[in-house]
Parts: sequence; C-alpha cells; structure tokens
Amino acid sequence: MNYKELYTITEDLLSKSLTADEFIKHYNDLQQSNNIFADNEYKPLTYRIQCNDDNNDDIMSYNDIVSCNDKLYNMLMNNIINHDNIDRSYNRDNKLQNKSLHKIMTTLIQQNYKCEHVTTAWVKIYEIYERFNIFSYFNPNNLLKIFFICELPGAFIFATNHFIRTKTHLKYDWNAESLNPNIRGDGFKDMFGLVRRYKDNYDFGPLDGDITKEENIYYYSNKYKVDLILSDCGIDVSDKLYEQEKENLIIFKSKIKMALNMLNNGGIFIFKTHTLLMKSSIEHLYLLYKSFKDVYIVKPQSSKKYSNEIYIICINKEYGDYNIINISDIPIEILKCIYKANENMIYKHMYSNNINIIKGKYWDNLPEQIINIIQMEKIYVMENFIKSLNIVSINDNDRLIQY
Ligand SMILES: C[S@@+](CC[C@H](N)C(=O)[O-])C[C@H]1O[C@@H](n2cnc3c(N)ncnc32)[C@H](O)[C@@H]1O
Repeated sequence: MNYKELYTITEDLLSKSLTADEFIKHYNDLQQSNNIFADNEYKPLTYRIQCNDDNNDDIMSYNDIVSCNDKLYNMLMNNIINHDNIDRSYNRDNKLQNKSLHKIMTTLIQQNYKCEHVTTAWVKIYEIYERFNIFSYFNPNNLLKIFFICELPGAFIFATNHFIRTKTHLKYDWNAESLNPNIRGDGFKDMFGLVRRYKDNYDFGPLDGDITKEENIYYYSNKYKVDLILSDCGIDVSDKLYEQEKENLIIFKSKIKMALNMLNNGGIFIFKTHTLLMKSSIEHLYLLYKSFKDVYIVKPQSSKKYSNEIYIICINKEYGDYNIINISDIPIEILKCIYKANENMIYKHMYSNNINIIKGKYWDNLPEQIINIIQMEKIYVMENFIKSLNIVSINDNDRLIQY
C-alpha cells in the first residue's frame, strides 16, 4: 500500500466521529492488516531519478506537472494548518514523546558505541552512509577529501569520522564551512568545540561563511577540489512554512553551484532540502541528474516525520557545468519520476500528521493498555532501526576529540 492510500484511510478515520471503543476496534483492524502507525510512520523512502515508464496519465506535459504540483502544495499546506490546530496540550505532549523517542535513540547510540556527540543529524548521515554504502565508491589507495557545507556544530563530522574509522580502511582529510559564529550571531555556535580543536580545518572564507554570497561561493569553488561534499543547511521557516521551498531556494542553488565546481570526477554530493515543487527546484534536480550517474531522493528513517526535509544523494559526478535547462525541455519521463517522488514524500508527511491528529482526538479516552502498546511499538521500531545501522564501537584513539 502506498502513502496516498494510507493517507486516504486516515482522512476517512478523521471524518468520522468515533467513540473510544469504535476507535480501538478500527485501530486493531488496521494493526492487523499492518496498515497504520509506527511501522509506516518510520519507514524510509528512496526514489532514483530515472526515465522509467511510469504510466501516470495525469501528467502528459510540463503544464500538467505545474498544476499537479500546485494541488500537492495546497493539500500539504491545508494538512499542516490542521495539524497545527490540534489540541495544543496533546500536541505538546506528543511532541515531547517524539522528542524523547529521538532522545532515546541518540542516547542509546552514543552510550553503546562510544560515539561522539550523537544528534539526529549524526544518525541521519550515518544511516545514509550505511544504506547507500557510500564509502565503497572510493579507492582505498587514495586520500579521500571531504568538504562539509553549513556544518556547525558538526555532528556530520563526528558521524563521518566514526563510520570511516570503524568500517573502512580509508585515509581521509576534511574541511568545513558554516556561518562564522564570531561574526554571525544568527548561526549555530561551536557547541562541541570542533572549531577550537580543528581551527585549520574550518574555513569561514573571505566574508562570514555565508554560502548565499557569490564571493564566498567563488572562494570555496576555487580553493577546494574534493571527493565527497555533505551539506545539511536550511533556513528555519517554522513560522512561515508556506514559504519553505521558496525561502530555501537560494541556499539550494548555492550548494549545487559549489558542489559542481568543487567535486572531482567520480565524486559524491549529499545534501538536505525540502519539497521539490517549484520550477527552479525541478530544473536544478534535472541538472544534477545530467551531472551525476545516479541521483536519489531519500527520506531517511531517522528524519523527523513531521518535517518536509529530504536528502538528495548524487553519486559519481560526470559533468560539472552549471547549465540550467528550462522545465519545458526536460523529458516528461523525468518530470513524472520527480513528481512521483514528491507525491509519496508529501503523502507520507501528511499521513504522519494525520496519525498525530487522530491520536490527539482520541488520546484522552484511550485505555492505558492501548497507549502503552502505541508507545511500545515506537520503541520496538526504533530498536530494530538501531540494529539495522550495524554500528561498531570506536577506539579511543580514533575519536576526534580526546577526553
Ligand atoms: C542544521 S544545522 C547543521 C547541522 C550539521 N549537520 C551539524 O551537525 O553541524 C545548519 C547549519 O547551517 C548554518 N547556515 C545557515 N545558513 C547558512 C548559510 N547561508 N551559509 C552557511 N551556513 C549556513 C547554520 O548556522 C547551521 O550551523
């Protein structure tokens, strides 16, 4: 069952006014058919951008894409408004529960495998490395060069070090940039002490590290040639989610420009972004498709389910020209593929929001036993997820910061 169908089930449930008993019966039926709650909420999603013969007859031209994307956008915004409007007391509790689930996950990983500074970002990039076998693409006889864009406080750096040191024989060197915390009060601080300890590795450029400024893009593009680029930035728009993709477009374009300039042939580029509904986003994704051998759109399992964030994984760079093709000249099969990826990611997000609204609606009247089952399901899914990461403990000498 895909997320569009799952979302429809939750819409149907939401339209009904059930008693607690009726709700429990529905819940049990859905559980038995394995359709609802934790498993589906925490599933990772992956799409490869490719010309396949998806027979979606709604989309025959780029004009169809534009109107379908508008519809998706409007649905998502309505869903987010409904989600924001749910009973505040429940929402607050539920957020705490979800937060604590992520907190349990990061604490367990940190304690059990001697990892440094495990945050959700740490787990997300570790999950991507493991699932996509990222380091198998690099020749162990060469020094691997890595550049981190927008990397403070530096959880990606700790996760990368942990993975390389415990699971590969690669030798590597790294540099990172971010908003300079000494100049830009609006950026993240050096909370883990990485800048203090590795001041030569952090390069804040000629200005303030802001990658939306052409002078900075030019500086990094000319100074570094690397094999792997990671970028985890986004502008916080929690107070105006309507503008999320638009507000982040400039960062989205800047990191793509930098990556195409800085990556060696065969290089890999992994970055965070949000929905891909705007014309310019689609044109840039097509540029990546033309520039790399494989491009994937991914929602990691460890990514927060009430967020639109997704990761784009571009493997094996072949071309580096920043040459934007107008959407009307992009093959329709590619447009359909991008649409399908977007559609599923968005339906998954709306499904998770609906589950939250449903629980909020019935929570107070649910017996303790059902609440416990719901909580235990989450823990069970999370424990299995941690096992699937195959994390190995790191030697003290291989840690980035010695204590
Ligand atoms: C989500 S955090 C980074 C998470 C990262 N994986 C880590 O663990 O450090 C985003 C970072 O991007 C930085 N940032 C935001 N806008 C930026 C910009 N225009 N140029 C450079 N850095 C930026 C923020 O200050 C923050 O440090």
